[in-house]
Amino acid sequence: MNKDTFTFALLFSFLIFSCAKNTNTNQSNNDIYTKVDSLMSLMTIKEKIGQTIMYSGDWDVTGPVVSSNNMTLLKNGSLGAMLNVYSAKKTKELQKIAVDETRLGIPLLFGYDVIHGFRTIFPINLGHASSWDVEDIENSARIAAEEASSEGLHWTFAPMLDIGRDPRWGRVSEGAGEDVFLTNEIATAYIKGFQGQDLSMHNTILACAKHFVGYGAAQAGRDYHTVNMGEDELRNVYLPPFKAAVDAGVETFMTAFNEINGVPATGNKFIFRDILRDEWGFNGFVVTDYTAINELVPHGFAENEMHAAEIAIKAGIDLDMMSGAYKSYLEKLVHENKISVDLINDACRRILISKFKLGLFDDPYRYSVEERKINTIYKPEFLEAARKSAAMSSVLLKNNDDALPLSKTETIALIGPLVKDKENIIGNWAAAGDRKGKAISIFQGIKSYLNDANILYAKGCDINTNNKSGFKKAISLAKKADKIVLVMGENYHMSGEAASRTNIKIPGIQTELIKALRKEAPSKQIILILMNGRPLDLSEEDSLTDAILETWFPGTSGGYGVADVLFGEYNPSAKLPITFPRSIGQVPIYYNVKNTGRPIPLDNPKEDYKSNYIDSPNTPLYPFGHGLSYTNFEYSDITLSSNKIGVSDTLLVSVNIKNTGNYDGHEVAQLYIHDKVGSITRPVKELKGFEKIFLKKGEIKTVKFKLTSEDLKFFNGIEFTAEAGEFEIAISGTSDFSFMNSFELIR
Ligand code: GLC
Repeated sequence: MNKDTFTFALLFSFLIFSCAKNTNTNQSNNDIYTKVDSLMSLMTIKEKIGQTIMYSGDWDVTGPVVSSNNMTLLKNGSLGAMLNVYSAKKTKELQKIAVDETRLGIPLLFGYDVIHGFRTIFPINLGHASSWDVEDIENSARIAAEEASSEGLHWTFAPMLDIGRDPRWGRVSEGAGEDVFLTNEIATAYIKGFQGQDLSMHNTILACAKHFVGYGAAQAGRDYHTVNMGEDELRNVYLPPFKAAVDAGVETFMTAFNEINGVPATGNKFIFRDILRDEWGFNGFVVTDYTAINELVPHGFAENEMHAAEIAIKAGIDLDMMSGAYKSYLEKLVHENKISVDLINDACRRILISKFKLGLFDDPYRYSVEERKINTIYKPEFLEAARKSAAMSSVLLKNNDDALPLSKTETIALIGPLVKDKENIIGNWAAAGDRKGKAISIFQGIKSYLNDANILYAKGCDINTNNKSGFKKAISLAKKADKIVLVMGENYHMSGEAASRTNIKIPGIQTELIKALRKEAPSKQIILILMNGRPLDLSEEDSLTDAILETWFPGTSGGYGVADVLFGEYNPSAKLPITFPRSIGQVPIYYNVKNTGRPIPLDNPKEDYKSNYIDSPNTPLYPFGHGLSYTNFEYSDITLSSNKIGVSDTLLVSVNIKNTGNYDGHEVAQLYIHDKVGSITRPVKELKGFEKIFLKKGEIKTVKFKLTSEDLKFFNGIEFTAEAGEFEIAISGTSDFSFMNSFELIR
């Protein structure tokens, strides 16, 4: 029996063993480790390196296509994963090559950016974060996993967990905003939704915590720009959501493009070995961002791509997305004794373990079943869920004189470049979402509530041109209507990756149209509905309009969801997850700032020589946690179980909340603390809990929170600890409040 036959016989018995052994889907990790070691004992170094290589498919009108180079790699067993390839048909075709035509038949991993939905698209992540509804967010991820897995995908490059404090940065649209606690909760929700309870099920997919780490702190809000911060900021603000992801069982991580304090993430041992693996015990695999290993050369951190490959594998990076550096140089680095083969074994092992967890060695084609797609995508209940999410994610920023809700008997002048939009409404990173007609426009949503005769439509202007030719018609319709409803904002290219803006106003001449309407129809109420991927400077619009509804990019069912809010079918309950500045000049501006040595006295904001501006207040236009309802909620009787707690005690905090208005509705009660004195300075406020409740009109409920010293811990430059002393505490419906209560932590 020659060597190849022997190897094949050994492998064949191995595979029979693994298939036979696994009758139940929930394999134990030890089983998997044993099988991976068995398989790796058969693998050559080239085959192990093959597992660390990931290339993208391309897209043609006929669907995903794979270049001849990549097909060659695939047939040589030199390709471990692919991105941007989906459909049961195409993934099955490629998987068959991997399984039948390579020596060891190791299945491919198919990954894709399923960020806020796959075909049924939910509000952009910053929008969905505005719902503060972690159950709804988890459900959206579950639906995304159902649809994506029905079209051959095993893995999503989500959730994006970068704290975003700078609206110039286009990728704030993909995260959960500026707050650590809220982002931690949302991270957990996405990961549970994507990965489910059992990764070996055919409708669960690997999640990916990205971009590790600090990407959102790019200087000047410019994408890919330099990141520099103290370890206290890194450990108290930017790392925690990723630790929450590890605690939630996330299977993969993705490197960030940026450097952190002079060391690019993709070559950063401190964050990937010392923190991620040694401190946190993460044992999944790490994928680079797109060509990020190559980029160590322009970063000025690697002399050439071979050096870049050496740095990355030594930093603990397992899978090379698109750079080709691992393919070209890992074997050479071993032969030149620049790296140990153990580093390649570790990377290969971690990737194989995830493939086993997915059950791909039991059935490599379990995700590539044509019939599943037909019965899965765009299910009515998925589209209905997206409608509900859109309503829950729309933030009522202002509503003077009850301009909203609209009545079904009013005639409205419906004006703006995004009224009939079906392309931008699903936002950036919209996966396999349809931009040609599937999405429900705001126009369609409003039409489902109003007779045609009550809708006077004019586009008025474009999103981003200087063409005023549509103003005249818009003004004439406005004069005839009871109210003016505007749908304006950004196009979806203006946020997301490589989409930073130095000007965060509504683009083009849209605001000039608002001014013209205000001038020509002064008695008419103006309601501004916004679609945008970042906080905007709305100072002018705030003075020109009576109501502003921030819908972000509300998704496939966005038109219906937004209309449900406009007509009061859903009483808006969303709260801002990110601050809206008065002007770009205030940026970065966020609620949990430090007090400084010269804070502005609340009773004398104009006092000289204080930390303020001579041309603007310090306060934002709309603060973190802000969001109005059609009713009002009154907070009273905040009570603490004690005014002192020890490190092992639990403080019970409760408050009564009453719905004092005329509408049933949801309220997000937010718990904030202020650590008054620390061995390093502490933020003036920190969110440490929230609860979304429903109150019928007139109803009162007691909302309770528990706090322990664990909740008070922070990194003080030396260790994570809770320091004794006085803490102020409050429960509110916004971050714009003054503390009235306090307690003491005693040692
Ligand atoms: C992009 C993004 C990353 C995405 C990856 C694959 O450059 O930075 O978030 O997952 O490439 O598309």
